[in-house]
Parts: sequence; structure tokens; C-alpha cells
Amino acid sequence: MKTEWIEKGYVTESIPQGIDIKSEIRRMAKEKNAVIMAHYYTEGEIQDIADFVGDSLALAQKAAQTDADIIVMCGVHFMGETNKILCPDKIVLVPDLNATCSLAESCKAKEFNEFVSSHPDYTVISYVNTTAATKAVTDVVVTSSNARQIVESFPKDEKIIFAPDQNLGGYINSITGRNMLLWNGACHVHEKFSLEKILKLKEEHPNAKVLVHPECKGPIVRIADKVGSTAALLKFSITDSATEFIVATESGILHEMQKACPDKTFIPAPPNDSTCACNECNYMKLITMEKLYNCLKYEWPQIEVDPDIAQKAVRPIHRMLEISAQLGL
Ligand code: 13P
Ligand code: SF4
Repeated sequence: MKTEWIEKGYVTESIPQGIDIKSEIRRMAKEKNAVIMAHYYTEGEIQDIADFVGDSLALAQKAAQTDADIIVMCGVHFMGETNKILCPDKIVLVPDLNATCSLAESCKAKEFNEFVSSHPDYTVISYVNTTAATKAVTDVVVTSSNARQIVESFPKDEKIIFAPDQNLGGYINSITGRNMLLWNGACHVHEKFSLEKILKLKEEHPNAKVLVHPECKGPIVRIADKVGSTAALLKFSITDSATEFIVATESGILHEMQKACPDKTFIPAPPNDSTCACNECNYMKLITMEKLYNCLKYEWPQIEVDPDIAQKAVRPIHRMLEISAQLGL
């Protein structure tokens, strides 16, 4: 591997002149029996070229079932790790290793391990947005699609640690009446939606429904017409009779919403710290067509997980998949 690639975290080769990058990506994927998966937050052209686009739960479920030899995860590092833990014998590629996640970073395994050890009588529930090492000290993993149902599958008086997203955890506490102990992590994208700007948009579009991801802060969640994972928000936008929506999650989801409902209007909710109209995850947007092309071509960067950690982390992920299957999620 070239030192420059290792230093940068992705293949830095330039794309050969005159090639049709889209058809080359599809040709290589077929030739290598690779499945290209993409999260809704990636660029629209990445979603369009993928074999499968989904939210965190659907991507994990798909990885667990695939018979491809190579999984190309167009998303962030923890998603690649989850795939590798579920499919240790497959090659798992993430086109840019710099695509991390502020939530996963906010829960370092060493500190989390100490916290968990100091609460021996607690069940540990971790959001999928965590590193493999954090999952290794977890009893059951959840995503935003199944967190409520999985928490409710435990007795009411179960002592629970919920990590790392304090906003999602606080939301689940509020709708279930639980009092889970929350780790104080947050997503830097979802935390910065502006309540004031959303309310102003609502005044300008009085018939618009407000769609909110539960990683957002409480005041934003409380004005929502629908709170849910990216997949749940997409489904609501398709099935609901409203024709205008203000969308408070990473703006990549608008691509699928607009594709599914060309006659409806989707307005991205703005962040509080800039004049930009929409709110993007800089990590997800690191995945480009060029990096996807190169990572398929050179089969690098590959995701590796320490076997000892993988052996511990696979248990809470399987538990999530089993409970989700039982609940029909
Ligand atoms: P979902 O995919 O569960 O909606 O979560 C969003 C997210 O932040 C993924 O990193
Ligand atoms: Fe992580 Fe937030 Fe980006 Fe999702 S949107 S990958 S939680 S930083």
C-alpha cells in the first residue's frame, strides 16, 4: 500500500481520463461480486449508484444477509465495522477512513468501560453509532429505528445505561417513562438545528409538517409532527397526505424523499451557525464517486476489527437483529 494512501486514509490515484466512472464502478462491482451499500446521508450520486440505500438498521440487516464477497459501505467508519463484525470472512471497504462520526467519537471505549464497570447492576444499551470497542462492553445495540421497542422489551424497573446519544436517550426516556442513565454524547450535525429558523420556516409554510430525527435536541423534537429514523421519516413523507415538509435531519435524505415524491416539497431545516440552508454531515460527504471507484479498484481501505473485540461486539449486534426480527422491524 502506498504510504501516501495510508497517511491520507484513502486511495489518492487520479481517475483515468475518458472513462465513464459510473459504468466502471458497476462493472467492477459485478466482476468482484461486491455489493455497494449507502446511507441516506451520502451524496445523491452515491445513493443512485448503490445496490442498496438504507438507514443504520437496514444496512446492518442487509450486511448480515448478503452473499457478496465484498461489501462496500458508503457511509461512516462504524457502519463498516458493524458489517465486518457481522461478516468477518468478507472484505469490507469504506472509501475514506476519515469518515468517522462525532457520536461514536464522543464515547471512547476506555472511559465508557470504566463507567460501565462502576455500574455493575446496569444493563448497557448502546446506539449503533459507536466503535466496535464500545459495542464490546454493551449488552444490546440499538438504532434509531428500534431503540424504543428494544428499551421497552426490558422490564420497567430494569436499570439501564444508554449511550452515547443523550438526545436520543432523553427522547426515549420521555416517551417510555424510563429513567435511563445517559452518556453525554451528541451528534454535531443534529445538535445544531436552529429552533428559531425552523419556527420561521413554519410561519412561511403553515401547511408543512416538521420531520425530526431523534438525535436532535429536545426543543426541536417537541415541535415535530413526526419523530423517527431516516427510514421512518422517508416512509412518513411518502404515506402522509401533506405535500410540504420541513426536514430536520442530515440533508442527504432529501434526495430519496424528492425521488420518491417528485410532486411534494421538501425544505431542509437550517443549522444555527451559518447562512447555509441545509445541515450536512461532513463525514458522510467525504464519500465521493472517485473514492468509491478507487476503493473498488484497489480493494482498499479495508475495515479490520481486532478479533477479540469483534467476538465480544458481535453478541449485542446479533441480539439487536434478533429482537428486531421478533418485533417485525
Ligand atoms: P439512522 O440511520 O438510524 O436514521 O441514524 C442516522 C445517523 O445519524 C446515522 O449516522
Ligand atoms: Fe455521526 Fe451525526 Fe454524521 Fe450520523 S450525522 S454519521 S451521527 S456525525
